[in-house]
Amino acid sequence: MDLRHVTSINDLDNDEIEQVFALADRYLDKLKDADHPHRIGESTDVAKGAILASLFYEPSTRTRLSFEAAMIRLGGKAIGSADPATSSAAKGESLADTVRVASNYADVLVIRHPRDGAAKLAAEYADVPIINGGDGAHEHPTQTLCDLFTLRRENKQLKNLNVAVSGDLKGSRTIHSFVYALARFGANIMLMPAKGMELPAHVDWRLRHEYRCGPLPKDRYDNAAMDALYVTAKQPHQLSLMASPPEFERNVRVKKGVDVVYVTRFQKERWTEQGQDYPKVDAKFLKARKYREARVLHPLPRVGELDASLDRDKRAVYFQQAAYGVPIRMALIALMLDLDGRNKWKKFADGFEKSSHVLFDQPKDAGIECINGNCIVHDKLERDYAKSRFHLIEAETPRLRCFYCERDIDSFVIANRKTRHYDTNLTARQWPDQKHARDFVLFKDTQQAEHVGYAKRQQAGRKAKAR
Ligand code: NCD
Repeated sequence: MDLRHVTSINDLDNDEIEQVFALADRYLDKLKDADHPHRIGESTDVAKGAILASLFYEPSTRTRLSFEAAMIRLGGKAIGSADPATSSAAKGESLADTVRVASNYADVLVIRHPRDGAAKLAAEYADVPIINGGDGAHEHPTQTLCDLFTLRRENKQLKNLNVAVSGDLKGSRTIHSFVYALARFGANIMLMPAKGMELPAHVDWRLRHEYRCGPLPKDRYDNAAMDALYVTAKQPHQLSLMASPPEFERNVRVKKGVDVVYVTRFQKERWTEQGQDYPKVDAKFLKARKYREARVLHPLPRVGELDASLDRDKRAVYFQQAAYGVPIRMALIALMLDLDGRNKWKKFADGFEKSSHVLFDQPKDAGIECINGNCIVHDKLERDYAKSRFHLIEAETPRLRCFYCERDIDSFVIANRKTRHYDTNLTARQWPDQKHARDFVLFKDTQQAEHVGYAKRQQAGRKAKAR
C-alpha cells in the first residue's frame, strides 16, 4: 500500500479537506479553552504512543510549534530538530537519508525546507507519512487548511467569495497553495501583487487550465491596484463568461465588495533584490467601502505590511487563523494516521492517489533538467537521490511538470532511445503511455538532442507508440 503524504494542497480532494474541517470543529468543540474559543485548552489520548518528528531546515514559529502542540494535544509525543545546524544536515547528510532514518523514530514527519519540492523527495524515501510544512516557494498546504478553516469559522462560504491576495505572490508558498484551493472551492481570486511579484506563470497556468479559472479583462474592474482577477468556473463551460462582461460582473460581484484580504510579507529569503513599493494594509486602506465586510488574513509573521493598529479591528482575524493551527493539525494528523480507527476516515489512510499523468524518468546526466534553480533536484546533497522526473501534462501545447517542484516547461523535444530520433511536434495523443515512457528521453531543444547523437525524425506525424 502506498503511503499517504500531504506535499501539496492538491494531494487532498475537496471532500477530504471538508473532513479535516469537520474533525477540527469537533476538537474545538470538545477541547476548547473555555475563555478562548479559538484555542485548544485540553488534551485527548487518541494518539497515545504515537510520535511526530519535525524536521525543520528553515525558521518557523507557528508551523512547528502548532504541529508539535497538536500531536501532544492528541496524546502523542513530538520530537524534532528545529535547527539544521544541530542535525546531521550540518555534516552534509542528504534529506533522503535523514527521512529514511527518522522514519524509524516517528510515525509521521513534518518537513520544512528551503528547496522547492523537498517534501516530495522526502515522501519518495520515507516509510511513514510526510507532511509538507513549507518547501521553498512551492507550497504550504497546511497553512491553507488553517486559512480556509478560518474563513469557514467566520461564516464565509468559499463559493463565490471575493478574495484579494496581496503582496509577494511570487515568493509566497502560502499563496500558491491558497489560490489552488480557492479556485477548487469556487472562490473569486483578485490578485494585488507588489511590483514585480506577480503570481508565477506556472501557477497562473494551472489556475486557468486545471481549475478552469477565467480571467476578467483588466479594464472591467475598478481597482487599479489589482493585476488580474480570476473567476472559478461553476460549470465546465463557464469560461465563456470571459466574453460576457455583464453576466461576469454579476457573478464576480465586485460591486458587492471584497470578502477577504489575504496579506503576505515580502519573502526576503527568496529574493536577491530589495522589495520596492510593497503594499501596506492599514486602516486607511481598509477604509474603502468595498472592504467594509472584509476579513483580513495573514499567515504571519508580518514585517510592516500589515499595520498593528488593525489588531483591534473586528475584521482582523489573523490571530484566530494562527490559533486554528492546532485543531487543524490535530485533525490532519488524526486522519492521516487513522487514529480514530473509523471506517469513515479510511479513505484518508488508504493510500496516495497516483497522478494520472505519464511520468518520465530521465536517464542520469542526460537531457532536460528542471528549470527551477531552487528545485530540490539541484541540491548537491540530493544528487544521488533526486533524479530528473517529469509528468507530461496533456494540454493543447503539451508541457512537462517537474515531479518535485511542479514547475512547468512548455518547450522541449522528445526522443526515442531505440530509434535515436527526436520529435518536436508530437500531439498529446501521440505521446508514449506509461509502459513505454522509459523508451524516451526529453531534451530542452534540438541542439541538446543533436549534441548527443539524436537526429530529427523525417516522417513527421507518424505515431510514436500510440496508446
Ligand atoms: C509562512 C511560511 O513559512 O511560508 N509562515 C507560516 O508558516 N505561517 C509565511 C511567511 O513566512 O511569510
